Amino acid sequence: MTAAPNPRVGIIGAGGIGKTHLSSWAANGIAPTAIADANPDTLASAVAEHGGQAYASGLDLIASGAVDLISICTPPAFHADLAVASLDAGIGVLCEKPLATTIGDAERVARTVERTGTLFAMGFCHRYQPHIEALKAMIDGGELGVIREFRNRFAGHLASVEQTWFSNPEIAGGGVLADTSIHSIDLFRYLVGDPVHIHALTSSCESGLGPSLDVEDTGTIILKSSEGALGVLESSWRTPVGEWVVAVHGTGGSAIVDYADLTLRACTKGGDWADVAVPDGDRFVREIAAFIACWRGEDTPRATIGDGLAATRILDAAYRA
Ligand SMILES: NC(=O)c1ccc[n+]([C@@H]2O[C@H](COP(=O)([O-])OP(=O)(O)OC[C@H]3O[C@@H](n4cnc5c(N)ncnc54)[C@H](O)[C@@H]3O)[C@@H](O)[C@H]2O)c1
Repeated sequence: MTAAPNPRVGIIGAGGIGKTHLSSWAANGIAPTAIADANPDTLASAVAEHGGQAYASGLDLIASGAVDLISICTPPAFHADLAVASLDAGIGVLCEKPLATTIGDAERVARTVERTGTLFAMGFCHRYQPHIEALKAMIDGGELGVIREFRNRFAGHLASVEQTWFSNPEIAGGGVLADTSIHSIDLFRYLVGDPVHIHALTSSCESGLGPSLDVEDTGTIILKSSEGALGVLESSWRTPVGEWVVAVHGTGGSAIVDYADLTLRACTKGGDWADVAVPDGDRFVREIAAFIACWRGEDTPRATIGDGLAATRILDAAYRA
């Protein structure tokens, strides 16, 4: 039997999450054909570790014609131009979240996906977290009954955020909501459904952890689904005693994913709380395995351009609420 062909892969942005993508491609047996980064030192060290042709510009990497697929891992303001150029060149895109920093840019990418028909997957990696998959199976299987409440808190301490692009609204498109709650928005849509009501409050303040930012360091979004389920999405960069929890409560029971100890616990049918067995698996490695399967025509993206666009619109509504 002939082995399935491997794509030629480019990584654009080799910083924090770019390194995770590089190691996740490696875990799938693929070394990059090309890497681009605007920072020469970051670029040199990524190429030294993983190999591949070095490019100072992501657009030059795309124009080289040397790759079939790219991971876009730059800060958010650059996602749309890179995605559009790739899609127009017939290069499949795995785009890190958020899709874009404006609705206009998100729609521009969506129109390009539609026009070109080129593969596009949105990097909502939590959809590939095995515990979230197991939680979704419980919800879809009716084990929790009618879902009434969803609570997701992703919070911790992002040190020195005031010195990075994360706190620059032009580059990031917002603060902790755009950075972190965008995952929570997608999880609400994935697990519970589309929201029909969206409310939010944000806050930024000076503290021992740093100055007040130009964007929110803490935020809460409240949602209501068309089925009547209520969601509370909390995020903060400035609560060092962090928490990474997704909790779903329904008329038939409750289930909680805790990323701190990687557990899914459930209480159903009037019984006691108990651990639910979940298979091992790294969400980024699994996300990239699925992206490769899409390129081979064996799968379709679990998080689509439509999901990226929907989350961008909900985030925008939250900021305007
Ligand atoms: N899925 C997740 O859980 C997750 C986690 C962290 C970050 N992210 C997302 O990944 C993206 C990058 O975040 P990060 O934490 O890796 O940031 P980072 O600052 O650590 O890395 C970004 C890299 O991109 C490079 N860069 C900047 N502009 C560029 C351009 N125009 N062309 C090429 N390279 C450029 C920088 O030099 C840097 O090396 C963001 O969209 C962020 O929201 C996702």
